[in-house]
Amino acid sequence: MIIAIDGPAASGKGTLARRLAAALGYAHLDTGKLYRAVGWAVARAGGDPGDPQTAEAAARSLDLGLLGDPALSSDEAGMAASKVAALPGVRAALLDFQRAFAAQPPDGARGAVLDGRDIGTVVCPGADLKVFVTASLEVRAQRRLLELRQNGQDVKEEVVKRDMRERDDRDRTRSVAPLVPADDAVVLDTSLLTPDQALAAVMGLLAKRG
Ligand code: C5P
Repeated sequence: MIIAIDGPAASGKGTLARRLAAALGYAHLDTGKLYRAVGWAVARAGGDPGDPQTAEAAARSLDLGLLGDPALSSDEAGMAASKVAALPGVRAALLDFQRAFAAQPPDGARGAVLDGRDIGTVVCPGADLKVFVTASLEVRAQRRLLELRQNGQDVKEEVVKRDMRERDDRDRTRSVAPLVPADDAVVLDTSLLTPDQALAAVMGLLAKRG
């Protein structure tokens, strides 16, 4: 069983994917972390995340041990991630790992929940359930602001909003694997939903499908 959760930044897809995986006993992969780790590795070394050769080399030699690094949650890492993520060579280098995780989830889990931007369209086009999570820019910016401040980061609302708009635009308009709902995705707007309600909505979809 493979569940694909896609959507823009701070739409609630990460929380939903994590809670869904916990409720079902499935493995969860936050694919944004892969792109963040690549972008961050390049930026930290003083490189340009938009440079194809540097970014592709970082993607091919990605140390999965980096995925737990708290620095990956910063806005800088998110911005660097969206730059490396627009490069076809970087996406290709990360594809096998994601597909292998979905096909053979770790620890013998019976299913996998993957969240990102292109899970339903590119990584797992045959997923059993695809959910495209959205929320208004205002709501998403407030969520992100809260999350960053809870992590002890001192950030300004205008900066968070501006960065989010820039990152969304880049993700939506890139030529490779742009952020679009798959034709067979169910769209879930979480602007007015609590995390519990979002989870219940998807559990309801699963129950209906049997
Ligand atoms: O989901 P998160 O905000 O952590 O993702 C960071 C960036 O990684 C996104 O803005 C996007 O550019 C990229 N990404 C992607 N494809 C995915 C997951 C993330 O392009 N499947």
